[in-house]
Amino acid sequence: MTETDKTLRIGLIGAGGRAVGGYIRYFKQASQSVEVVAIADPSEHNVKVCLEALNFQSSQPTIYSDWKEMLGAVSDLDGMIIATPNFLHHGPAMVSLDKGIRVLSLEKPLAATPKDCRSVVRKAEELGVSIQLGFTFRLSPFFAKVKDLLTSGDIGNVVSIQMDELVGPRTTSVLFRGPWRRFTALSGGSLLEKSCHDLDLLTWMADSRPVRVSSFGGTAIFRPNTFLPEKCNDKCPISDSCVYFLGNDAMVNNIGSLKMDECCIYNSRKDIADHQSVQIQYENGVVCNFMLNFNTAGHHSGKNLHIVGTRGRIWGNIHDKEVISHNMETGKVTEHTLEVNNSPHGGGNILHAEEFLRLAAGTQEKPMSSEYDAFVSAMICFAADRSRAEKRQVSIQYPGFKDIELV
Ligand SMILES: NC(=O)c1ccc[n+]([C@@H]2O[C@H](COP(=O)([O-])OP(=O)(O)OC[C@H]3O[C@@H](n4cnc5c(N)ncnc54)[C@H](O)[C@@H]3O)[C@@H](O)[C@H]2O)c1
Repeated sequence: MTETDKTLRIGLIGAGGRAVGGYIRYFKQASQSVEVVAIADPSEHNVKVCLEALNFQSSQPTIYSDWKEMLGAVSDLDGMIIATPNFLHHGPAMVSLDKGIRVLSLEKPLAATPKDCRSVVRKAEELGVSIQLGFTFRLSPFFAKVKDLLTSGDIGNVVSIQMDELVGPRTTSVLFRGPWRRFTALSGGSLLEKSCHDLDLLTWMADSRPVRVSSFGGTAIFRPNTFLPEKCNDKCPISDSCVYFLGNDAMVNNIGSLKMDECCIYNSRKDIADHQSVQIQYENGVVCNFMLNFNTAGHHSGKNLHIVGTRGRIWGNIHDKEVISHNMETGKVTEHTLEVNNSPHGGGNILHAEEFLRLAAGTQEKPMSSEYDAFVSAMICFAADRSRAEKRQVSIQYPGFKDIELV
């Protein structure tokens, strides 16, 4: 990366799993000198974990128990990271921009409602700011290669894209019994929380605007069960076989420092879907089929992709270190080998953190994905959830500059 001599002064709102795992662990090894000088988080446990991860710094950050308090006090920041629960993206983003902070890394999704998404996009537009959104997969070698192949024209024009996201036990557990993701009012639902990434990738690969969406799904796996207790350690009769049993070593190791409610994953209070399919039609005619499923593991879980073009196909799985393409005219199958670093999200995590440091240092002007990309992906999620609830197709319309509406 291109670094500067300056030590960057960074603020952090929300010091949970993503802040530590997606930013701070890479700051430690960055060639750019960087210090987190202020942290806002009401959780003493998470702040403690975060401070341990910041043990490489020469000075301690100032700790605030809430983002409003921090934004009232801080100045001279080179950049701000907002990694709060989804319903708390809008407030900190708007106030940070009002306070004159111009380099913002806002975690995906943009916000938890269409209204909040729209107001962040308007504010950024008014100020001429481009916010970095946490769409780490765009930077992953796998999807970067797919995008290159599409741009090269090797498979002709894209006709259809099939993708699925098969989520493993750790993330499933975090979604269905973590403190906020399992409630639509706080997370915006499981599609928005988990797969705004995927819907952004589909739009990026289709290279067009989504215009129609339909969706099906609901709760088929994590349904309440009166034979099971409310909590794992309350003499659960399936503790030996349940992969979500919180006394099970694999689950404890998977969770690490994350705080998890001890509730049974089946009997936890929640209102989010555990499986959902989404069909999207784009303005340029591309059609996409997407499936989100929790409670999966093993070979070819994660993200699977298959693209059909007018002259060939591209396919692969995010965990494989290759993308494969087939050309219909020559019959040639090519295995494109990838160099992948070992950071999560297909190697996109570290590249995203490095991009944030370049933006803060002023050596990169614009992020790979911005607030408008995130508005589009969030609106596909809201359209899909509306389609599922109202049992109809939902249109996505573009009534004016950068505005999006669902009809
Ligand atoms: N880009 C990615 O790939 C990726 C991966 C994981 C999570 N995320 C996103 O990052 C965000 C955070 O996720 P997480 O896994 O870290 O969740 P988390 O629950 O571990 O962390 C959220 C933190 O925000 C804090 N918080 C709550 N209220 C606050 C307030 N008023 N002021 C300041 N802090 C407050 C919580 O105490 C917690 O420490 C979410 O939006 C999530 O969707 C993105």
